[in-house]
Amino acid sequence: MTVSTAAPASASRVLQTVPEIPAQISPSGARKLITDLHPVDHPLATARYQSALRYPGAKSALAPAIGRLVESAKRSAQIRQIHLFVEPFAGGGSVSLRLAGTGTVDRVLLADADPLVAAFWQEAAANTDYLVDRMWDEWRTYIKPGGAPAVARWDYWRAWAPPAGATAATARATAAVKALFLNRTTFSGILHGRAGPIGGRQQLSEYSIGARWTPSAVEERLRLAGHLYDTGRLLDVWCKDWRRTLDDVAEHYAQLLPSRVLAYLDPPYLDKSPKLYQRSFDPRGGYGRISGPVDDLMWGDTRMHFRLAEYLTTRAQYRWVLSYDAHPSLTTSPWLYADDRMTPSRQDRELLGIRCWRITKRHVTMQYSASARTGRGHRDELLLTTLPPATVPRNAELRSIP
Ligand SMILES: C[S@@+](CC[C@H](N)C(=O)[O-])C[C@H]1O[C@@H](n2cnc3c(N)ncnc32)[C@H](O)[C@@H]1O
Repeated sequence: MTVSTAAPASASRVLQTVPEIPAQISPSGARKLITDLHPVDHPLATARYQSALRYPGAKSALAPAIGRLVESAKRSAQIRQIHLFVEPFAGGGSVSLRLAGTGTVDRVLLADADPLVAAFWQEAAANTDYLVDRMWDEWRTYIKPGGAPAVARWDYWRAWAPPAGATAATARATAAVKALFLNRTTFSGILHGRAGPIGGRQQLSEYSIGARWTPSAVEERLRLAGHLYDTGRLLDVWCKDWRRTLDDVAEHYAQLLPSRVLAYLDPPYLDKSPKLYQRSFDPRGGYGRISGPVDDLMWGDTRMHFRLAEYLTTRAQYRWVLSYDAHPSLTTSPWLYADDRMTPSRQDRELLGIRCWRITKRHVTMQYSASARTGRGHRDELLLTTLPPATVPRNAELRSIP
């Protein structure tokens, strides 16, 4: 008997690949830098909040302090100007959007390994009208009082995954709507995992599923992202692991002086991350496939924090600002940030020009809105940086670590 090796017609349909969210906005790769930059002309540019996402762990309350830190560093001869501010753990992008809006930095690049988050910002930036229209459609049809059942729509979006055979552009556009819908209607804006709809499945709470969806305010924030992209202030949005982002900035934007690039890293908290983000990277429980070994993206595992620390303290070629929860191990563990200075190998210093910058450590008190149930609260954040130490303020806002 002979066995055919040709795939039957039905199997070839099954084998169609599920599209991945594009690694960057333009399929042609690096975007040309707009050098003729003008002050940002948008009513939200210097407002308190810029992000269209309500993001778990958002640093909007920390953004003004980071802005002052960068302004202070720019007064030193070593820095003067930041041509690119890279945020590899972008989430809601609150710090980048604020610093771009105020003109503290020339331009920003957002990146996140979560395909839903990346798709959202890619569409908000480069396909703003579409996302604004879809946002209003969803609101009018399901969220506005008297509309179609919103919890059923929430279930629909939770279950949605890009269909096999869809183009990358369609997958990205629909993933962005999914991210927006779930972010606006789920407890604490959590996109993955077990968090349910605001108001509960029975909608018996005083807060309904639409309590956090103010369409005109969301539209204004989406339009700010589009405006920043059109004017070159938001350079690109990448769907990448943090390490790829930092390597690729060096490769794609080699014309930028490393001393004029600053990385801002806001990784998942040391003590809390699995609950908020981990499932987004779990193919069994989250959005689906993403490139790269899944193990590399499991922040519930402290080894990932060690890996980031190892990179930042020995191999980073850009100066960096790092924010974390004020967990004591971060500044006492030799595997994390106990050292006060970077310690690259001799080879990396000689061959790659990696510097031995001092690491300055501060505590900042951040006021955050915890949740509808617990109201506003305060917590200490840890801020570490390799910006020139003499420029890092020490005051009531940025306090020495006891
Ligand atoms: C603390 S949140 C960032 C919040 C953000 N600073 C804000 O203000 O909204 C951490 C983010 O890191 C992303 N992330 C987790 N692991 C990652 C990885 N390996 N590479 C890139 N991003 C990652 C998560 O998807 C999440 O959006």
